[in-house]
Amino acid sequence: MNIIIASDHAGYNLKENIKKNISKFNLNIKDVGCYSNDSVDYPVYAHKLIKEFTLNKYNFGILICGTGNGIAMTANKYKDIRAAVCWNNEIAKLVKKHNNANILCLPARFISLEMANKIINNFINSDFEGGRHLKRIKKINK
Ligand code: RB5
Repeated sequence: MNIIIASDHAGYNLKENIKKNISKFNLNIKDVGCYSNDSVDYPVYAHKLIKEFTLNKYNFGILICGTGNGIAMTANKYKDIRAAVCWNNEIAKLVKKHNNANILCLPARFISLEMANKIINNFINSDFEGGRHLKRIKKINK
């Protein structure tokens, strides 16, 4: 699987730790920043990731900021992007099964590395259920 990851400064440490653990998931990961704990603006990195995501073949993307919300709000401005804030195992499964989320948004200030890895694992190992859920996600774009 090919995935792409980005964060702001609040998510930087979690991003780096996820990358260290990523071998467990057998994923190729492209990191588009940020590259330090220096303060940055989360929309810059969300835009950067989504632009790259839409141009190339990635299975999914991971965006990280303090609450997960700023990056999700930015990512969800784009057509056909379904960015979902996840903070536990069940939500990680449901955003794939029901929403076919293509961007996982992680709230770095509210989850542990262990939970982040579990979320990624649950997301990867869940499948979109289609059917009534397909009918619903088709109604998301304006
Ligand atoms: C940065 O302090 C923080 O505002 C940002 O990471 C994020 O939580 C915004 O939604």
